[in-house]
Amino acid sequence: MRFKILQLLVHGLSLTWLGWAYYLGFSDQLGGDPVEGIIHYTGKGALHLLMLTLLVAPLSRWLKQPRLMRVRRPLGLYSALWAVAHISNYTIFDLQFDWPLIVSELVQRPYIIVGLTALLILLVLAVTSLPQLVRKLGRRWRAVHSGIYLALVLACVHFWWSVKGFELEPLIYGLAAVVLLSFKRRPLWRLAVRVHKTLTA
Ligand code: HEM
Repeated sequence: MRFKILQLLVHGLSLTWLGWAYYLGFSDQLGGDPVEGIIHYTGKGALHLLMLTLLVAPLSRWLKQPRLMRVRRPLGLYSALWAVAHISNYTIFDLQFDWPLIVSELVQRPYIIVGLTALLILLVLAVTSLPQLVRKLGRRWRAVHSGIYLALVLACVHFWWSVKGFELEPLIYGLAAVVLLSFKRRPLWRLAVRVHKTLTA
């Protein structure tokens, strides 16, 4: 029952929080430039949800509450949803569907390519979370879902690369990501070998 409430809270808070972000943006409460404000707000929201998703497994181990794992899937899905909102804000409000401009941004700003790669990974993870695909992928599901660690690293690189000059904030997020990666039970290099073996088997 407690975990059902927690799951409902994750759904409720993630959606209300997203609605709240747009309310702030449309009512001009996200700083001097509301378009920049909503792009930054949703980008950070996606990253926060991604980090929370990765915190669930170590927390459930430490608290000895395996049922806590039930909130991992919705948190991951909401991270993907927030990331989709983030790039939609950029494409719709900032670039206004100007396709030549979108292509030139991709060419001129490598951090956009890094963000796009992270987004594609999150979308693959979201689609392969469907119960039918979880069953179909079998043992390979775990290997595919290890991609979440790569998505985290790429999202942090994207953040760090998007700021001009030195700023403390991306460094703090980067350190938080290192801490989250260190909670992994299996060292990352062994994970990479396992993923390669499973995917090429
Ligand atoms: C196609 C994919 C993506 C595009 C086009 C994109 C675009 C952008 C843009 C234009 C900015 C603002 C840079 C500036 O102000 O100069 C930004 C910042 C940011 N993005 Fe993305 N992004 C993408 C994917 C992602 C993903 C997947 C995440 C996280 C999971 C993410 C997290 C962030 C964060 C945290 C910031 C910094 C916000 C801040 O400075 O307050 N982005 N992104």
